Amino acid sequence: MMPQRNQQNQPQPDLPPEKVKGQPQLLRGMRDILPADQPYWDAAVSAIERIATSAGFQKIETPVLEAASLFNRSVGQDTDIVDKEMYTFIDRSGDKLALRPENTASVARAYLEHGMVSWPQPVKLFYVSSFFRHDRPQAGRYREFWQFGFEVLGDVQPVVDALIAYHAASVYREFGIPINVHINSIGDKACRPGYLKLLTDYFKSRKNSLCEDCKKRLLKNPLRILDCKEPDCHTVSLDAPQTVDHLCDACRDHFVHVLEYLGELEVPYTLDSRIVRGLDYYTRTVFEVYEDGGGEGAQSALGGGGRYDDLVEQFGNRQVPAAGFAGGIERLITKMHERQYAPKVSSPDIFIGQLGEPARKKCLKLYDVLRSLNIKVAESFSKDGLKSQLEAANRLSVKFALIIGQKEIMDDTILIRDMESGIQEVVDYKKIVPEIQKRLSKSTVVPTAPAVTPTL
Ligand code: HAM
Repeated sequence: MMPQRNQQNQPQPDLPPEKVKGQPQLLRGMRDILPADQPYWDAAVSAIERIATSAGFQKIETPVLEAASLFNRSVGQDTDIVDKEMYTFIDRSGDKLALRPENTASVARAYLEHGMVSWPQPVKLFYVSSFFRHDRPQAGRYREFWQFGFEVLGDVQPVVDALIAYHAASVYREFGIPINVHINSIGDKACRPGYLKLLTDYFKSRKNSLCEDCKKRLLKNPLRILDCKEPDCHTVSLDAPQTVDHLCDACRDHFVHVLEYLGELEVPYTLDSRIVRGLDYYTRTVFEVYEDGGGEGAQSALGGGGRYDDLVEQFGNRQVPAAGFAGGIERLITKMHERQYAPKVSSPDIFIGQLGEPARKKCLKLYDVLRSLNIKVAESFSKDGLKSQLEAANRLSVKFALIIGQKEIMDDTILIRDMESGIQEVVDYKKIVPEIQKRLSKSTVVPTAPAVTPTL
């Protein structure tokens, strides 16, 4: 059956398309980012790029595929991301590869591999890229998702942690999304082992109240019991020893400074002992960004990050302190919609309409000249009837339509139609370029002309 059509013989956009048996379909958990979504993505990405570059971050893109061992060693073999969610496969050379589930490990690899250690420190990098996790898809959780991230490598100072949270907060502020940074410190090599022993003893004595996953975590990753969402585990966690009470002096001093700097930067934060993060590489500061007043469930973190002072050393025997953050772009865009953010949609300035084959040819030349002057031009050159062309011009909300028909071909003229008033004027074809530039400069921003003005 053909799709339904309206009076103008246009397909009805709102009707769900019919599915034919055997037709290719999106994989579960994957999304197409359709033209209607793009203005939101463009607005998000351009704000992120502006915030990052104005703070001295340089853009990095790493490959989608990496050796699976990169993430096993850094994110951690026993974490959900590696153990349950990573897409891995053996390629034709027999190598075990992974679709990147996150970017901090790749950025640390690139830092070492490209000798960034000899660049002036710190090295500040940012990215906007897609990642893959084979998780159970639901609202806000996809199998391919996008993150923007900031990473600062080669700086141990607590002000770096605070500035990263500040730049992350700036992205949400840009779209009027109030946020709160839930922050904690999980200590370092010096103080964490002692704390983990206390924590393990505490949970062992309450093992029967823990869910099956947390019983396993007790052996492999007891910190993660603290952020388990099961109600019984949550209740048991409430009285568990807290990391902040067991930090060594250096970690406590670092954490106190981070909080002071967040205060100076007016980034709202909450001390939250349940923030432990699901990746093994973190040391000291860990944080997650939530919408202020929004929920705090598994899918509601807008982003997360922290310090990872031992990660680079783990890869390359060089001690490089570092910290970073990544935010989910789909979750940011959901919040933009909830706050009724209206992205700017740019419409063309001019529509070129034509009637008859000689007019079409002349209009093609005009189209080329106007485009080379950076004027946004729309057309329906494949249509013959002027009515349907003007309807298209109306839909696009252009300011002016330029029309050439048989008479205009004979007289070497062109019609300018003001689409708002409907008034039409005949203009000498040779004068159309300066004339349209003049009119556009009155109604909008003047398009910048190249140094050499092309001729008609
Ligand atoms: P993460 O907490 O795993 O951290 O992810 C950061 C953010 O990415 C999440 O808060 C969420 O907004 C988004 N995200 C994660 N998984 C999904 C998913 N399946 N669907 C949609 N959005 C998702 C990291 O990835 C660390 N690399 C962050 C970091 C950077 N730490 C230091 N530097």
